Amino acid sequence: MTPRLADHNKDDRIALRAEIRQLLGTRSIVLIGLMGAGKTAVGRRLANWLGLSFTDADGEIEAAADQTVKEIFAEHGEAYFREGERKVIARLLQAGPQVLATGGGAYMDSETRATIKANGISVWLKADLRVLLNRVARRDHRPLLAVGNPETVMKNLMAERDPIYAEADITVESREVPHEVVVSAVVDALGARLGCEAKPPAPALRRKAQ
Ligand code: S3P
Repeated sequence: MTPRLADHNKDDRIALRAEIRQLLGTRSIVLIGLMGAGKTAVGRRLANWLGLSFTDADGEIEAAADQTVKEIFAEHGEAYFREGERKVIARLLQAGPQVLATGGGAYMDSETRATIKANGISVWLKADLRVLLNRVARRDHRPLLAVGNPETVMKNLMAERDPIYAEADITVESREVPHEVVVSAVVDALGARLGCEAKPPAPALRRKAQ
């Protein structure tokens, strides 16, 4: 019997998910990008779609230190935070497959970049200045934005970091659209990067997959 269209799409969706997971093996999907790029929001939904666990590196650093990122910066300084960040990410990357969201500065560390390359597939969530500024304005927990004008800080960070983020295996635009749309774009890009044969799910069904 010919499957109904909906069933057919559902099968495609399940096949793609299974193929991505199989080809991923024990590697992690590592989300990188600036503050406000949507790494956590997209990462959670992506993990959910793939049936993988989600880990937020900053959350793990905070748990290990029993302090917030803001407190760590204030009490010990950025260099201390970066050292902890490097160690925590190296530890987390031993536990793939998973979706791992990293703090905006993590990928700037050459050792961390190498660890990510060896144990994961990096996905740069690239957003433009306006999108980033809109998103970070909603909360005030980010120490780097507490000093100076956020727009200037963000512009400087973009100039400094974007060429390094561009080394990521995959780049996906993170726009002001529902997170599910960005998740779908990441899934498509992952499928292509991994050489999946299964077709991406039809757009209408992608949301239901969340
Ligand atoms: C930082 C980004 C933050 C956090 C810390 C430093 C950065 O994470 O790690 O405040 O250097 O860009 P998010 O990118 O999740 O905001």
